[in-house]
Amino acid sequence: MLKVLKGLTLGGALLAASALMATTGQAGDSGTVLVTGANRGIGLEFARQYAAKGYKVIATARKPAEATELNALAKVDKDIVVEALDVTDLAAIDALAAKYKGQAIDILINNAGITGSPEKQRFGTIDYASFDDVMNTNVRGPLKITEAFTEHLAMSKQKKVMVVTSSEGSIAGVTSNRQPFYRGSKAAVNMVMKNVSYALKDRGISIALINPGPVDTDMMAAARGRMPLRTTELAVKELSAIMETLTVEKTATFFNFDGAPLPW
Ligand SMILES: NC(=O)c1ccc[n+]([C@@H]2O[C@H](COP(=O)([O-])OP(=O)(O)OC[C@H]3O[C@@H](n4cnc5c(N)ncnc54)[C@H](OP(=O)(O)O)[C@@H]3O)[C@@H](O)[C@H]2O)c1
Repeated sequence: MLKVLKGLTLGGALLAASALMATTGQAGDSGTVLVTGANRGIGLEFARQYAAKGYKVIATARKPAEATELNALAKVDKDIVVEALDVTDLAAIDALAAKYKGQAIDILINNAGITGSPEKQRFGTIDYASFDDVMNTNVRGPLKITEAFTEHLAMSKQKKVMVVTSSEGSIAGVTSNRQPFYRGSKAAVNMVMKNVSYALKDRGISIALINPGPVDTDMMAAARGRMPLRTTELAVKELSAIMETLTVEKTATFFNFDGAPLPW
């Protein structure tokens, strides 16, 4: 840059500098992403990759004070803003939407999710409080967040919502009694968001329901060494690539991570 500016008047140098910055890109140039559950796992990687691509990232975490990796990332990458959000807290979702009133959000990523402990979902001794936790987190959370941020999406360029769902929510794929809370919650979020897609289609807002496949995160700790797990880096690249091709015509498609449609 110094070479380019050498020999120019002050005004010329400023113009040249701003032209150069316009071609190299500014923080938030690509748009704004909001991601839930951004303190670890797939959500943390979404924050990292979208910020690296020039997006402003509103990275939410249930307990920001304990979000060590995310805070460290936000310290070096000023495109990342960390916000507190428990996706089961309806008032907190409204408060965050109000705080960002007037801010366009191009991509809303409903990532936060829980499986619920296997013991609590054993038929015969079901723990219904745990059932409510899983449903409130995995189904009510994405519904409420999408509702609260509709205006932010509508005023953006891209107008896209992602739900990180799961192939575990494919009713067609069920051949055993395993994780009924989790499976039920992912089938339910697919159904709820397919409905929501009809409320948002006319406003140009599209929704993708995406299965990231088996990914090496805390959620899959018990599967380590028992099945092949993919890195968060690869999974996030794949899911982001699907978002790039998402259009209103494709809204509410249940996608596998490779872009192929999954059976309901
Ligand atoms: N990993 C896989 O193989 C896989 C496969 C299919 C689908 N998925 C889906 O991918 C998404 C991300 O999962 P992951 O693998 O990254 O899991 P993870 O490592 O266990 O991370 C889950 C994230 O969700 C957050 N979260 C949980 N409850 C929350 C709440 N009430 N409010 C706000 N945040 C909350 C967690 O925050 P805390 O740290 O505060 O708990 C954490 O940031 C989930 O929706 C999951 O169902 C994952």
